[in-house]
Amino acid sequence: MSNRIILAIESSCDETSASVIHGEEVLSNVISSQTIHEQYGGVIPELASRAHLQAISVIVEKAMKEADREFSELTSIAVTTQPGLAGALLVGSSFAKGLGLKLGIPVIPVHHIEGHMYSGMLEHPECTFPFIAMIVSGGHTTIFLVREFGEEIVLGNTKDDAAGEAFDKIGKMLGLGYPAGPRIDALAKNGNPKAYDFPRALMYDANYDFSFSGLKTSVRYFLQKNFPDGIKDESTLRDICASVQEAIIEVLIHKLFRASKEYRIKNIIVAGGVSANSRLRSALHEASEKRPINVFLPKLSYCIDNAAMIGFLAALKLKYLGEDSYRSLQFTVNPRSMRTERT
Ligand code: KG4
Ligand code: ZN
Repeated sequence: MSNRIILAIESSCDETSASVIHGEEVLSNVISSQTIHEQYGGVIPELASRAHLQAISVIVEKAMKEADREFSELTSIAVTTQPGLAGALLVGSSFAKGLGLKLGIPVIPVHHIEGHMYSGMLEHPECTFPFIAMIVSGGHTTIFLVREFGEEIVLGNTKDDAAGEAFDKIGKMLGLGYPAGPRIDALAKNGNPKAYDFPRALMYDANYDFSFSGLKTSVRYFLQKNFPDGIKDESTLRDICASVQEAIIEVLIHKLFRASKEYRIKNIIVAGGVSANSRLRSALHEASEKRPINVFLPKLSYCIDNAAMIGFLAALKLKYLGEDSYRSLQFTVNPRSMRTERT
């Protein structure tokens, strides 16, 4: 195992997180989720930047303490630089550059979505290349084919809303607050997924693209027609949640396994915030048991935005690309970058 000790920082959206990685082992992973946005029904960028500024030093100190390491022992720093909210990314990257300069160690810029992608390999050394990765988060729903480290080919993408966005927007219509994904997950546990038939857009199209905005519109019309005064009883709410969740998950799983079949790839990674969904996790296990396929899911604390996945990817970058690539502090943040082209 390498003796590198990396401090990783993640601040792309509404989680401030810091982690210490030794080799490829996570020594600490401290996550502070901003609660201020709940009252607004979505993330307010300016408030997010301010909250990151307030939290970052404390979170970094805590991660170092939990890892029982001194700053002088660090060999590099990893930080999320894209994509995300510009101001939020700047807080993390400025902090990382300052600390890197002070300690005289390299700072490794990391792509947030690649961080999610490789989090499937974290604590799963048996997950080897090639693999198919599906990233399902608040901003992305993308299937990648990854043949080698750093060789990520986009097979398909959402044409409109991301899966997490669908959970959040539909949850908002149901009065579940923000973010609604975990609330829908919890309510759906005792609901009937077959109670209502919501659309599964693009499910049988011969591509790996997704579309969730039609589902959102269909739920809106369904609620206006059948529950103009709101949903009064809990069991109906549970049934609606279970049916919406099933509509999202069925398309995700269908396309994912088709990609694995077409490209003859046996290892599958599913990561990003929505990979915390309990029904998605159990459906993936059920589906993989019937096939000669291995599904790798990050543990829950690596599903939501976290710095451990950023540090782990930095460790892989150093392993595969070497340290010399990261001597410059000339990188900048890029709020909107996402490689969505098909190769
Ligand atoms: O990866 P993430 O933490 O942030 C982004 O990079 O977007 O993903 C956040 C998304 C939110 O839309 C949230 O509602 C969704 O992940 N999410 C879930 C669950 N936990 C988080 N969606 C469904 N079920 C869950 N248990
Ligand atoms: Zn994320």
